[in-house]
Amino acid sequence: MAESAADNRRTLPLIVTPPTAVPAYGDADIEGIQSILGVDECVRYYPPNLSAVDDPRTVFVADPAPPARRPVNVFVDVPYCSTICGFCPFNVYPYQKDAADSYLDALEGELRILADVYDLGATQARTVWIGGGTPSSMDEAAIERLMTLLGQYFDLSAADEVTFEIKPDLRDLTPAKFGILREHGVGRISMGVQSTHAHQLRLLGRGHTVEQAYEVIDLVRAGGFAVNIDMIYRLPGETLAEVENDLDAVRRLGIDHMSWFPYVAHEGTSLARRIEKGRVAEPGSRRDYFAMYNAVTEGLGESGYTGYTPYHFGLDGNVCQYHVDRWKMPQLETLGLGPGAFSFFNGHIYANEHNPGRYAEAVAASTPPVQQAKRLDETESITRLAVLGSKLFSIDMTVFQQLTGVRMQDYYRREIELLSSAGLVEVVGDRLECTPTGRAFTNDIATVFATDTAARTRHPQGIDLMRA
Ligand SMILES: C[S@@+](CC[C@H](N)C(=O)[O-])C[C@H]1O[C@@H](n2cnc3c(N)ncnc32)[C@H](O)[C@@H]1O
Ligand code: SF4
Repeated sequence: MAESAADNRRTLPLIVTPPTAVPAYGDADIEGIQSILGVDECVRYYPPNLSAVDDPRTVFVADPAPPARRPVNVFVDVPYCSTICGFCPFNVYPYQKDAADSYLDALEGELRILADVYDLGATQARTVWIGGGTPSSMDEAAIERLMTLLGQYFDLSAADEVTFEIKPDLRDLTPAKFGILREHGVGRISMGVQSTHAHQLRLLGRGHTVEQAYEVIDLVRAGGFAVNIDMIYRLPGETLAEVENDLDAVRRLGIDHMSWFPYVAHEGTSLARRIEKGRVAEPGSRRDYFAMYNAVTEGLGESGYTGYTPYHFGLDGNVCQYHVDRWKMPQLETLGLGPGAFSFFNGHIYANEHNPGRYAEAVAASTPPVQQAKRLDETESITRLAVLGSKLFSIDMTVFQQLTGVRMQDYYRREIELLSSAGLVEVVGDRLECTPTGRAFTNDIATVFATDTAARTRHPQGIDLMRA
């Protein structure tokens, strides 16, 4: 390959003077790093600069040489929640039974269109993530139909991991729903707890208390499911002591897996508007974030959790395979289904129509329900490996060379020098390792590895694409 890709690659646009001293852990030059990079948002997929597609059929194109066995992550977006939280940027709509039933009709249609083009029989769903949204907001019949439908196209019993997202709202959760999930091979439940402080739960508009969340955790564990809980930190006005209280409270529960996300005030959300208008305190600075990130990783580490990405922590070596697969180099293909779902399949990155009505209309016209897409060029395919791979803190540069035909040390020489001088990465043998400081700032590392255009393109969130 890949000489041409190396030659055509961007030149680094971002560099200002790097910090003079290499910062030590705990004493990182946060402002220095920010003056170079300054990225807060989570790089969830790459490249971000998708464009509207004129003919979505050009995205669903059969691979002329399909692999005999194609392991993929399957992501199913259920875009409904019982109530919508003011901090959430996802593609979500208040649950209504009729709308959810129409959504299932359309999902069935999307699967049919997919199966016409791809040999789904040869596709092995290695992991399945049914989320969104809050799939548990649907009624029992709808959940049964969803799971049966997925089972018709994918062998759920052969999947390594099947995760279903719930919200700890006791009004939504019945023993029958858990029974349906178990019967259809769901082994893992993921739910947002977010905070153990009543005032923060109110600010977030969660509609549940921490006691109710604990009750649901007990229910889920009693049902034999593995559990993940999502927590958010650096919330508006939140102190380090409050984050430490949250940590103490939840690490005692001995849950298999936790996600800890730094709050991002996404434009277009009601909480972000309240912050902008000064009605709610600002979230902490990057320095506050760094102190909280360290408290989270150290506090969880003391209780046996290992952070294998900046957001995900497993007890006694537990990991969520879905997250590992979508970030580990080379990234596994992901088939996203449902309104707003993202896919990385057959060399394309694409986002489905976000609006459930438009999604259903496209499917009814037998058209792939694709809203925006991008066929990865050679440079982007190479870049993607590093941009997403850095989320797992360590890149095997021998594997990078095997995959791309170029030496990472040469291809990214200037980027590695810059990141090393900022104290974010170091070369250890044939691996590029994030330093402890770099682990807190993987978004910045990803941005440096991103191509020129992509580095300057804001990552669209669900809420942006809902308006598109
Ligand atoms: C699909 S939701 C989780 C499942 C379920 N809907 C619930 O809320 O319990 C995914 C997670 O993203 C995180 N999240 C949402 N908005 C966020 C924001 N603005 N900043 C950081 N994390 C956010 C929350 O922790 C949330 O639990
Ligand atoms: S955080 Fe969860 S429940 Fe709240 S709006 Fe987002 S997806 Fe729905």
